[in-house]
Amino acid sequence: MTASRTTDRARLGHRLRYAYRHPDRVVPYLRRLGRDWRLRLTARDHVAYYRAVMKADTAKSPSAAVGSATEDRWLALGEMQFDYLLRHGLAPEDRMLEIGCGGLRAGWRFIEHLDVGHYHGIDISPEILLAAGDTLAARGLQAKLPHLTLVRDLRLSALPSGYFTVVHAHSVFSHSPIEVIDECLRHIARVMAPDAFFDFTFNRTTGKEHHVLREDFYYRVETLTELAASRSLSARLMEDWEQLPHKQSKIRVRRGDASGTQEVGTGERLQR
Ligand SMILES: C[S@@+](CC[C@H](N)C(=O)[O-])C[C@H]1O[C@@H](n2cnc3c(N)ncnc32)[C@H](O)[C@@H]1O
Repeated sequence: MTASRTTDRARLGHRLRYAYRHPDRVVPYLRRLGRDWRLRLTARDHVAYYRAVMKADTAKSPSAAVGSATEDRWLALGEMQFDYLLRHGLAPEDRMLEIGCGGLRAGWRFIEHLDVGHYHGIDISPEILLAAGDTLAARGLQAKLPHLTLVRDLRLSALPSGYFTVVHAHSVFSHSPIEVIDECLRHIARVMAPDAFFDFTFNRTTGKEHHVLREDFYYRVETLTELAASRSLSARLMEDWEQLPHKQSKIRVRRGDASGTQEVGTGERLQR
């Protein structure tokens, strides 16, 4: 049985059925459950919790820590993100902010494509940012002078106002409780240029919102679009992303005062 958009993965019944069908995943799950209990007691907030998860997972494998079990999957997932933004008009002169850049699975492709100094990646995990440095070196992209910054929250306070033309967060809000997403949405408009857009992916449910081990969070589309509206952002589900072989959905937000930019059916940007 494959989980559907209505499945509540936190329900005991679902977990037992899942364990029955995937006995090889029971021991890894129990290990994560033990880590979850320990971190609930020791981590002061969600960012501290998830930073500890990333530290442990990155020590085992930087690519598995961002969700890619193999090198081929790591490359394919990065390519999917890059190709999508390219189809939506990502140009070398764009100034890009990647939130939760991880080990640059997609980031190295953005850096290669963008003008020197036009890529800025932020992350809460020092360990994955070290892996990002390794990716940069392995790809020979040092001369592109990307900015990679460790952050403790998503207030974006060290970043310039009205600067970024494209903001991207892949598989970050899928690991974030609503207060972290809200913090980002409260602050994102300040750093966006007037015609900028911010794309983020999330785990979508059409049933009850839930989370698994505080590592994976499932939201309804309306929850996120209404939250964006409450922060004076316009938001819409990207239907063309739904056609791609990826479990998460994607929402695009713009500043509420954005004007002069239109989108066609594929979401392609017509004007800057
Ligand atoms: C699943 S990985 C995806 C990484 C990258 N976006 C990619 O596609 O390879 C999630 C990343 O988001 C980072 N992250 C999680 N919560 C964050 C937050 N609140 N602020 C910034 N980064 C965060 C994690 O440390 C991790 O590197």
